Amino acid sequence: MAIRTVRVVGDDILYKPCKLVKVMTPRLTDLIDDMFETMYENNGVGLAAPQVGVLKQIVVIDVDDGNQYVFINPEILEEEGSQTGQEACLSVPGKYGIVTRPYKVKVKACDERMNPFVLEAEDLLARAICHECAHLKGELYISVIEGELMDAEEEEE
Ligand code: NI
Repeated sequence: MAIRTVRVVGDDILYKPCKLVKVMTPRLTDLIDDMFETMYENNGVGLAAPQVGVLKQIVVIDVDDGNQYVFINPEILEEEGSQTGQEACLSVPGKYGIVTRPYKVKVKACDERMNPFVLEAEDLLARAICHECAHLKGELYISVIEGELMDAEEEEE
C-alpha cells in the first residue's frame, strides 16, 4: 500500500467526469487499498479516485461506523429529507463550508469484487456518499456551499 498525492482545487482532473469500472484488476485493487491509506493519513472520511488522479468511478468511505465502504460505479437511486451542516474536502485543504444534502439516500453500487449491492444510508454516511458521488461527476462541494467558504481554525493534530 502507498499513500498517494491528493489533488487539490485548481487541478483540472477534479473537474472531469469519471469512467465506469468494467472489470476489477489487481491495479484497481491496489488503488482502492491506497485510497483508504491516503484517506486515513489525511484524517478524511471519504475519498474519490479523481482526488488521487484516477478518472474512475471509485469511492471509499469510512465514517467510523465500523465499516469500510467501497462504492464502484455508484448511483444514487433515492433521496429523502435534508440535512444542513459543515462539509470539508481533502482537495480543498484548510477550508469548510455549509452544504445542504439529503438526510437519507439509497445507493446502488458494486463492491471491490464487483458484486452489486444496494445500501440505505443516513446522516453523515448519506452526506459522505453525496459528496463523493459528486466528485465522480467532476463537482466539488464548494460549488454548492451556502455562504462563504471558511477557514478551518485547527488543522488536524
Ligand atoms: Ni471531497
